[in-house]
Amino acid sequence: MITVDGVAGLKEQIARLRQGGKRVAFVPTLGNLHAGHIHLMQEARNHAQIVAASVYVNPLQFGPNEDFDAYPRTPAHDKVALLAAGVNVLFMPSDAVMYPRGRGAHTVVEVPGLSEDLCGAFRPGHFRGVTTVVHRLLTLVAPDVAIFGKKDYQQLMLIRLMVADLGMPVEIVGVDTVREADGLALSSRNHYLSASERQTAPHLYETLCHLRDRVSRHGSLTREAEEAAVEDLKMRGFRVDYVSVRRQSDLAAPQPEDRRLVALAAAWLGRTRLIDNVEFGFE
Ligand code: PAJ
Repeated sequence: MITVDGVAGLKEQIARLRQGGKRVAFVPTLGNLHAGHIHLMQEARNHAQIVAASVYVNPLQFGPNEDFDAYPRTPAHDKVALLAAGVNVLFMPSDAVMYPRGRGAHTVVEVPGLSEDLCGAFRPGHFRGVTTVVHRLLTLVAPDVAIFGKKDYQQLMLIRLMVADLGMPVEIVGVDTVREADGLALSSRNHYLSASERQTAPHLYETLCHLRDRVSRHGSLTREAEEAAVEDLKMRGFRVDYVSVRRQSDLAAPQPEDRRLVALAAAWLGRTRLIDNVEFGFE
């Protein structure tokens, strides 16, 4: 595995590895890698002969009162994990490489509407930061395919919309969420949980599964089903940002005829914000 920190080195290595017409798959991350990230690297391998990854804690996607400074940075561990996962090239840029004229001066990419909904309503500017950095990374790496987790369902949808709107020549692949044995979705932020919060955390997934079952049984979404899920989470000690059932295709509110839905939630345990979602369909 070759690690590069500059744009020229990145482009040179990608061009070299591409020789002979090889396909490149790309997996962007914030680092502090866990088995969910590694699963994406393995999925990348199913789509291309060359796998590129990036580790960059993107300041643009953190709000002023969020955990940018506290976000775990474990570059040595990440390099070992990516090497073991068979990654060919690792891009670890600095802020100066990503935003040469300063982060405030950089051109932004924003998908209107959906980026202000759900998580975007609670994290103003977050998704503008995500689409801006992902656009730049995709432009620099120029992969054939880029891999994202469904764990961040709204993020995946926004990236699909950005790529379609801008006509970017890359295929976007979404990968199922990797979970702990008790159902908790793997996340770097799980490290913030206290022992007792860790015991409570799987109830987020459990509540979404109950909501799925209730909506499926009923054959339609009811406001009461979402409200019952919020109450369940509050009783367990969560502070709830939202619980919402949407349609999979565009994350709009489902119409009675919609059959492919996704239940999404964001909720806090102490100082830790957890998100999760469950896709489902019914007849
Ligand atoms: P990060 O949170 O590091 O996640 C990197 C990728 O791993 C994302 O596509 C995310 O959905 C996926 N992922 C995280 N946990 C997962 C799990 N338990 N199972 C499967 N996939 C999982 O998401 C970001 O970074 C950033 O916003 C980024 C896209 C890199 C832009 O800065």
